[in-house]
Amino acid sequence: MKYFLILLTLITSCAYGQDTIRPAEPWPDNQGNHIQAHGGGIIKIGKTYYWYGEERRQGLDTTLRYVSCYASKDLVNWNFKGDVLKMSDPDSLGPRWVLERPKVYYNSGTKKYVMYMHIDNRSYKVAQVAVAVSDRPDGPFHYVKRFRPLGHESRDIGQFIDDDGTAYLVFEDRPFGFRIAKLSGDFMDVEKQMSLIPAHMEGGAIVHYNGLYYSIGSALTGWNPNPNKYATALSLEGPWSEFKDIAPPETKTYGSQSTMLLKVVGKKRTTVIFMGDIWKPRTQWDSRYLWMPLEIGDGKLWLPQPKPWTLNLKTGEVAM
Ligand code: DGJ
Repeated sequence: MKYFLILLTLITSCAYGQDTIRPAEPWPDNQGNHIQAHGGGIIKIGKTYYWYGEERRQGLDTTLRYVSCYASKDLVNWNFKGDVLKMSDPDSLGPRWVLERPKVYYNSGTKKYVMYMHIDNRSYKVAQVAVAVSDRPDGPFHYVKRFRPLGHESRDIGQFIDDDGTAYLVFEDRPFGFRIAKLSGDFMDVEKQMSLIPAHMEGGAIVHYNGLYYSIGSALTGWNPNPNKYATALSLEGPWSEFKDIAPPETKTYGSQSTMLLKVVGKKRTTVIFMGDIWKPRTQWDSRYLWMPLEIGDGKLWLPQPKPWTLNLKTGEVAM
């Protein structure tokens, strides 16, 4: 009987435990549902990763907007923690108002979790960020305010936390370009511009790798994929290099759009993961994820052809 129970436990854990990241395939959470964390971002609190994103499952109340949260210790198996923000139209944005690309920062001073998101009306003319706050990583988050960061238009946002813990917001300012700005000490405001890169890019993301900053973004083609590009700089204040392709341009980033660059520092190596969304505008709930370890270093960054891969979080090593 004892051996039977051990066998049963092993079989069940094999059936439900995943060890492989499969780009572009449905990604089941602990309940067997395809993960809904589109346009998302990840933070690590202790040993736990939290993945926040746009909740787009079918059957939601269409007057509300939802941000989901998933927790994982291995970046592969994700436990659904629920919709940590359920928001109604904050003040007359109107029908089909927009909440996209939520990102959460943890402020160790105030011990608050601060969520930034792109908020807009249906025609994307409001171009603001909204801020919501929670005492816990898994919510509930409460809406606080909305505004244009440093007075500028802001549509797609990206999150970057430097190795020293300083928090930055990347945002797309349609008339001018790609802005990188530092958050205030309590993270409740956008305080200081670091750079304005005069390139029209969205889906912005940044990683600090071996003394160099790499910023990445896509062209402005709505939900359709395009060749994403990267630039480098020794400082967030620039000067930034020219933008170069991250993948063969004809693949249009293998059908995906950047949302974040996640750095995993292991005992043997540091791996940088490209996190992209494969949008399905007519069936948004079925939009997929393209996560791949990047080839990165010496000012070069390259997204290899997607294929299933595994990550050893302790060593930082990947295998395909
Ligand atoms: C591209 C953006 O990256 C997405 O987040 C979304 O805003 C779509 N445009 C809407 O067309």
